[in-house]
Amino acid sequence: MTMIFAHRGYSAKFPENTMQAFIEAEKAGADALEIDVQLTKDGEVVIIHDEKVDRVTNGQGYVKEFTYKELRKLDAGFHKKTTAKMEPIPSLEELLEWMTTNRLICNIELKNNFFPYEGIEEKVIKMVRKYNLSNRIIISSFNHYSIVYSYRLAPEIEIAPLYSENLYMPWVYAKSIRAKGIHPKLITATDEVILASIENGIQIRPYTVNKEDDMKRLFSIRCSALITDEPKKAMKIRQQIQSAI
Ligand code: G3P
Ligand code: CA
Repeated sequence: MTMIFAHRGYSAKFPENTMQAFIEAEKAGADALEIDVQLTKDGEVVIIHDEKVDRVTNGQGYVKEFTYKELRKLDAGFHKKTTAKMEPIPSLEELLEWMTTNRLICNIELKNNFFPYEGIEEKVIKMVRKYNLSNRIIISSFNHYSIVYSYRLAPEIEIAPLYSENLYMPWVYAKSIRAKGIHPKLITATDEVILASIENGIQIRPYTVNKEDDMKRLFSIRCSALITDEPKKAMKIRQQIQSAI
């Protein structure tokens, strides 16, 4: 069955990368979450997509220039308010603790392709181990040196390279770095690449799949997973396709 990964949580309807978006993704029936992590000035792993807080909060500046305490005062629900409640930027620890109360899988994307965030791999792995979640985590990044380093530190945690351009036989590359999966940009995930990856034992999870036709294609071809802002819509389409088979 094609798994549904909620991209930044249920980000089509709720403020991305907030606990609200994660809780709503679970309620919508998603199998998994996709989140982005960066490091604060005082070394806390926090969940936010951009290096700067400007787009999604009521603050300004680089994440790495805020302490965790300062960052928590910002409202990450600012860009997509659904309630009057303030939505803080979550820490990875907060999310992992909540994950012990459910069965979700989580793809942690290390956002260290712009700033290196030295030590982020060790911090993420330490926390995943603390909550005993190694078998429900996939570490991905556009920084492939970082995921290979993560694998060396924690071979029990799955890694998956992210890429946005066409790669020649990506399943061969994945095996060469001991990745069990690949996360390609949707446009590069042709039927041929999907089928060959699966045939070669590599899970393939294209991003970001929001259109109905794209979802239908991936469900019909039995792609391993898809990463979407619209988990509820994906659930509905998956159910329709399954009941038609
Ligand atoms: O992990 C898939 C996708 O999230 C990668 O791109 O920019 O949305 O983090 P981006
Ligand atoms: Ca991401």
